[in-house]
Amino acid sequence: MEWQATYHYLKLIREHSADLFRHSLNVANLALRLAFELGMMDQGWEVLLTGALLHDLGKTKISTAVLTRPGPLSPAEWQQMKKHPAWGAEMLAKEKAAEPLLLDLVLLHHERWDGQGYYGRRGPDLPLLARILILADALDAMTTYRPYQRPRPWERVPEELKTCAGSQFDPELVRVFSERPSWQPQVLASPTGRKRFREEEEAWAECLERLAHPAAAYLAAVQRRRLEVGTRAFLRDGKGEKP
Ligand SMILES: [Fe+2]
Ligand SMILES: [Fe+2]
Repeated sequence: MEWQATYHYLKLIREHSADLFRHSLNVANLALRLAFELGMMDQGWEVLLTGALLHDLGKTKISTAVLTRPGPLSPAEWQQMKKHPAWGAEMLAKEKAAEPLLLDLVLLHHERWDGQGYYGRRGPDLPLLARILILADALDAMTTYRPYQRPRPWERVPEELKTCAGSQFDPELVRVFSERPSWQPQVLASPTGRKRFREEEEAWAECLERLAHPAAAYLAAVQRRRLEVGTRAFLRDGKGEKP
């Protein structure tokens, strides 16, 4: 799908909820990173980038009061919440240039490896890019503040991911992501380890810039300049170019 259309839908997300917009950017960054670590940046990364940016587009049909409710949802609200993948895919299906895989990514982002997700699709039946998106979505949910939970520090993420490998997530993807050397607790605990972590984060920003795509350039800027600053600049220039 063209960047202009992606940008239009991203603006809808931003206008609905700044938190949802930040989440969309974080998930896109993480999903691309995982694809990169798997050595598959030459295979459909643009669709993955668009799918990750717009995966929660259907939530723009749900009130922010429901989206941010700290307590449990009523059965009717829960039913509404479960429809957001289908609603998002329906909205994008109106775009002639929307790739079938893009619609699948949006539709399937709440599936699980064990088939216990919203639509019961399981394991290898899910496209690899959807499995990557599912993991990236959960990673951002774990590591950012939510009304119903405190964020987990990154160094606890590998351990937590492993408990869900083979149930919620593709076990091979968990292995690749949780074995990243710079995320290991002992590395993050030392000054040299933290320096290495920073260098890797900077290298990732350079990698995003080399993709020469407006959304990737913007993610690189966010990576470098912190999310809040980048978000304001993005909305001001309106083109998704590097702020
Ligand atoms: Fe979602
Ligand atoms: Fe999400």
